[in-house]
Amino acid sequence: MRVEDLDFRVDSGVYAPAEDSFLLMDAIDFDRDDVFLDVGCGAGLLTLGAARIARRVVAIDISLKAARNTLRNLKRNGLGFPCSVMQSDLLDSIPPAVLFSVIAFNPPYLPYDGTTTDMDHALLGGVKGTELAEHFIQQAVRHLQKEGSIFVVSSSLANIKDLQNVMVNCGLDIKIVASLSIFFEKIQVLKGIQQ
Ligand SMILES: C[S@@+](CC[C@H](N)C(=O)[O-])C[C@H]1O[C@@H](n2cnc3c(N)ncnc32)[C@H](O)[C@@H]1O
Repeated sequence: MRVEDLDFRVDSGVYAPAEDSFLLMDAIDFDRDDVFLDVGCGAGLLTLGAARIARRVVAIDISLKAARNTLRNLKRNGLGFPCSVMQSDLLDSIPPAVLFSVIAFNPPYLPYDGTTTDMDHALLGGVKGTELAEHFIQQAVRHLQKEGSIFVVSSSLANIKDLQNVMVNCGLDIKIVASLSIFFEKIQVLKGIQQ
């Protein structure tokens, strides 16, 4: 899917898709049987990409502005049908019995350095940069179908080793499926497959 082919708009206060968003999107091969959960959907790039292929798509974001932005982008492009969009802090609003074949999160992954901006909710992942992503993994494995996959973005500026340890401790086999060096950081997409 090319974003140029969509009527895709980004509302103020919502993360505009960047290199990390496109790296994650290109790393996932959706299947028509997939039931997909897009965590931290932002303006909905990944949700729209999945909606064209997957059987069912659920998009969640802690930011109400982001959830509304995703919903509007889906409607603008006639892609509302297989999708639900909700405001949720990580997977807190997902009922325990609901399972997905693919779960992805391009999380806020920068370490907190004492400065603040109005986009912190989309950029800062904790003191190490990986705390939110680690918490995400612990929740996501409980909502994964057998042989399902979790995709998560991380940066060399954060503590990727700690994130990988949490993934292994949660019973996932890890692969680095995409990476990109930009300026002074390297971003990576980690794929965890349930063993
Ligand atoms: C880096 S942006 C990625 C947005 C979009 N997925 C993309 O790739 O363009 C991170 C997103 O995660 C959301 N987010 C941050 N903390 C969250 C949480 N605890 N639960 C759900 N979403 C969260 C932010 O609001 C933001 O939209």
